[in-house]
Amino acid sequence: MDVGKAALRWRIEPNADADELRDHPAISEAARILREGGLVAFPTETVYGLGADARSEEAVSKIFIAKGRPADNPLIVHIGHVSQLEELVRELPPEGEALIRRFWPGPLTLVLPHKGAVARKVTAGLDTVGVRMPSHPVALALLQVSGLPVAAPSANRSGRPSPTDADHVWEDLGDRIDAILDAGPTGVGVESTVVDVAGSTPMLLRPGGVTLEELRETVGEVRVDPALEGEVQQPRSPGMKYRHYAPAGEMWVVDGSGEELVRRIRRLAEEARRAGRKVGILTTEENRFRYEADLVVPCGRRNDPESVARHLYRALREMDRAGVDYILAETFPATGLFHSVMNRLLKAAGGKVIR
Ligand code: TXA
Ligand code: MG
Repeated sequence: MDVGKAALRWRIEPNADADELRDHPAISEAARILREGGLVAFPTETVYGLGADARSEEAVSKIFIAKGRPADNPLIVHIGHVSQLEELVRELPPEGEALIRRFWPGPLTLVLPHKGAVARKVTAGLDTVGVRMPSHPVALALLQVSGLPVAAPSANRSGRPSPTDADHVWEDLGDRIDAILDAGPTGVGVESTVVDVAGSTPMLLRPGGVTLEELRETVGEVRVDPALEGEVQQPRSPGMKYRHYAPAGEMWVVDGSGEELVRRIRRLAEEARRAGRKVGILTTEENRFRYEADLVVPCGRRNDPESVARHLYRALREMDRAGVDYILAETFPATGLFHSVMNRLLKAAGGKVIR
């Protein structure tokens, strides 16, 4: 990796399955780069990841440098076959097994006691490791062809919104990594759900593509890390303590629902504009024409939580591009996928809510 040198970029049509893609020349090249200790950004069904050989301290340290990521924030290890778990973890409790059966490959990361097979920098010195098997065909093909456990955080500069398109990766890291596999926009749009199954009761550490309701349907009781509920406490998922996913402007989540929410945002936007601020509003298709601001960004449809999750990070990046300095975001009822959406919105806003 040469900082300052442009990454190789290969376009892959995502409309093939992993079996067909294993013969794709871009996949073999990317797998070679990973085996030689380089950095490859690749699409997953959630967001783009920045991959490196998880066994190599040297390769993994390049991830932290490229992203500007704090060293105490552990990385998720991605695998292409469930059987690779055996090399990585000491034991798999029955809850973990049940979750794997239902959600892998897919947007679920399990935190399990590790065996010492991955670099220390991956686990940030913890005795657990986060593992997931993604379902995106390009990710699966790359993981299977490389044969490696691949450490991969989201492929953004630390603190910026996660990349849901190859252009976002290019924007943030285009001159700091070796290659980008470009398969167009990702599907889920928020990161994987992180669940700790190393303890006696599974604990949700980060809401994501798999909902809390789905987890409970599968294994019964699931606790929620109190740090997610806004209590002041050290989160168990170290990454959750950083201001994250954040646009450059000052952002507020506006509480409320229905007509009252719209009226409130209209009033706040008007006041802010009168005070000379450049105002952006994060809204939904249903309400987009009801606001006046310097920038109104619709982010999916309120009656379709999946569409909101899918467009969220793109919407935050749009705010940056337009250079708005005051952002007002509509609130969502925090159940199902909206639980994950609200978690990311609150992070982006640094916890600032107008009630
Ligand atoms: O969807 C995703 O998970 C994406 C794609 C690329 O797979 N990856 C991703 O990675 O979001 P990253 O590094 O941005 O977030 C990893 C999260 C962090 O909050 C980190 O603290 C947590 O997982 N994590 C990783 N290992 C952990 C462990 N052993 N114990 C607790 N939390 C852990
Ligand atoms: Mg991230």
